[in-house]
Amino acid sequence: TPTFHYDDAGYMVVEGVRVRDIQDALGEEASPFYVYSKAQISANYEAYRAALDGVDAIIGYAIKANNNKAVVKHLAGLGAGAVLVSGAELRLAMEAGMDTSRTVFNGNGKTPAELRAAVRSQCLINVDSEFDAAHIADAARAEGLPANVLIRINPDVDPEVHAYVSTGLANSKFGIRNSHLQWFLDYIRDAGDDVLRLAGVHSHLGSTIKKVSIFKDAADIMLGFVNTIREGGAAPHLRYLNIGGGLGIDYERVGEELPSPADLINTIRPQLLAGGLTVIMEPGRSLVGNAGALVSRVIGVKTNGSTRFIVTDGSMSELIRPALYDAYMYIAATEPGGETGVFDVVGPVCESSDFLGKGRSLPLPAEGSGLAVMDAGAYCHVMASNYNMKRLPTEVLVDGDEWRIVRKGQTYEDLMLGYEGLDV
Ligand code: LLP
Repeated sequence: TPTFHYDDAGYMVVEGVRVRDIQDALGEEASPFYVYSKAQISANYEAYRAALDGVDAIIGYAIKANNNKAVVKHLAGLGAGAVLVSGAELRLAMEAGMDTSRTVFNGNGKTPAELRAAVRSQCLINVDSEFDAAHIADAARAEGLPANVLIRINPDVDPEVHAYVSTGLANSKFGIRNSHLQWFLDYIRDAGDDVLRLAGVHSHLGSTIKKVSIFKDAADIMLGFVNTIREGGAAPHLRYLNIGGGLGIDYERVGEELPSPADLINTIRPQLLAGGLTVIMEPGRSLVGNAGALVSRVIGVKTNGSTRFIVTDGSMSELIRPALYDAYMYIAATEPGGETGVFDVVGPVCESSDFLGKGRSLPLPAEGSGLAVMDAGAYCHVMASNYNMKRLPTEVLVDGDEWRIVRKGQTYEDLMLGYEGLDV
């Protein structure tokens, strides 16, 4: 049985727990909420691990996708490393027990304070630009420790995804121009071994990628850079080939054949082995995306013109992907309803971009019944906001027949933090 399925009475079940039972126990105050499946995260991780059998590899979870501490701890326990994009993510990774030597600090705008913390932790650090190289060297000198760096290179391969999640093209704000590689090699060498050590190369093309041939093209190009580095002279610390993350997941749920982690890894296996390097992969969405759902309550149903609307307490504030990227996310009732019709599912936020799905075929829901936005384990809670003074939702983790709150939702009082001691 799939992790999210229906029981004989028509109720949605996560592993061994009815969603309605969680909803009733949490009450209206904690609606909408996120529910995650521990077993699904384990299965997703295992798909990567098994496919990487025989490859010296680090699976570096992209914490930005879902930073719930219970999720990060679970992945750390399974053996994952991480890719980080802020000093706070570095702190969280360390608190969750991640081995920092298996983490990569990436980003085009790392601050001096973040870089000093990164050097102290001895995680791997991506060099993203000329100024970044200088800032990393400054941090290493200030800490009296060498920085182990990967050069983030733009392979200039089109990932064929939404422009907002495309990152590896020549005019992207991320990484170095590949024609500038030599400048960075010289800079790192000149800084000296006690300041900068060239530990590897990194590329990340984008997110929601559906074609594995794209990864193959990029891996070939990256191996070319590895050869350029080796031909240019001694590279005693060169050890990592980081091919980033980006594998898409089946949001449409129409049985479209999307490549699995195994398809991806089998396609690029020759490239992964060719350089004699430790491979780093940085999946986010494909590790946690299908392990979560946002569960809302139906407030009411209305018709305007030719459109029938289901209005839920869940909105773009809790889940912005449809509003921001026009992303399609599957919506399913969590309990039996009436006659099936076609609806736009919208929230209460004061904008017309506040929709979760349009033109969806769903059973007519009773007021108070549950509706789940599926595949909401990645880039959903982490991108939630307080717009319209909506509160960040509660997160729940299911493990077999048990469930527990793994982060409390915000209260009105939480929203009013920051005024204490001020005359307002
Ligand atoms: N590595 C780097 C350097 C990245 O920038 C990212 C994602 C990943 C790995 C993980 O990519 P994944 O395997 O999750 O595709 N908010 C957008 C997605 C932004 C992705 C940012 N970078 C969304 O909701 O679709």
